[in-house]
Amino acid sequence: MRKKIVAGNWKMNLTAEEAVQLNRDVENQIMDPKCDIYQFTPSLYLPLLVEKEGYIQIGAQNGHPEKKGAFTGEISMFQLQSSGVQSVLIGHSERRQLFHETNDFLKSKVDAALENNITPFYCCGETLEERESGKHEAVVIDQIKEGCFHLPAEKIRKIVFAYEPVWAIGTGKTASPEQANDMHRLIRNAIAENYDNEIAENATILYGGSCKPTNAKELFTMEHIDGGLIGGASLKADDFIQIINTLN
Ligand code: PGA
Repeated sequence: MRKKIVAGNWKMNLTAEEAVQLNRDVENQIMDPKCDIYQFTPSLYLPLLVEKEGYIQIGAQNGHPEKKGAFTGEISMFQLQSSGVQSVLIGHSERRQLFHETNDFLKSKVDAALENNITPFYCCGETLEERESGKHEAVVIDQIKEGCFHLPAEKIRKIVFAYEPVWAIGTGKTASPEQANDMHRLIRNAIAENYDNEIAENATILYGGSCKPTNAKELFTMEHIDGGLIGGASLKADDFIQIINTLN
């Protein structure tokens, strides 16, 4: 059975105090979750949250593939692992667009994360222009192939995939459940073709992009959608909990 996950991506938001409070508020209100819950926090707050007991797993939003060296301002996957971090976002569209991260660079991050026993949450998704010109499927499959399909079978199993259409992120526009499900099916089929059916069936593929309490249920009940990667709505404990509860 594939894992169901609801993950919050806090991006560059919250003070240290607010971060601890949000984590605590969510933790205190979840009783018996039927899914795995993650919060991807600003790196600075990782030490405040990583060692805490509880349901919520804490992840990093970024990690550099080199182990150490002259990369001012960066934090390596190796350093994340040495601080107890066990999951990381890779390939988020904001990293791809604003920081010019290529599939090739993301591939090296995937490798470095896995070498350090960190679970990559590998994000993919097309821009509006790519969708309107009919290239969306090819773009997403290329992102996944170039970033992940070099991995051997035992390692591809460790990847959590997240489909996040760029045009839906932070815009209030959500992909329809059918649009999202179609893309998730395509990703699952690509995994089956490159590996096998069993690996594809067990792969967790999350949806992200303006997912909120009012639309989470219709998205999460689609056959190929195994949960969500939530931005804006993960910053409010009540909204995030309502989204988690749609999977309960
Ligand atoms: P959003 O962000 O939910 O605010 O659209 C999702 C994401 O960027 O992961």
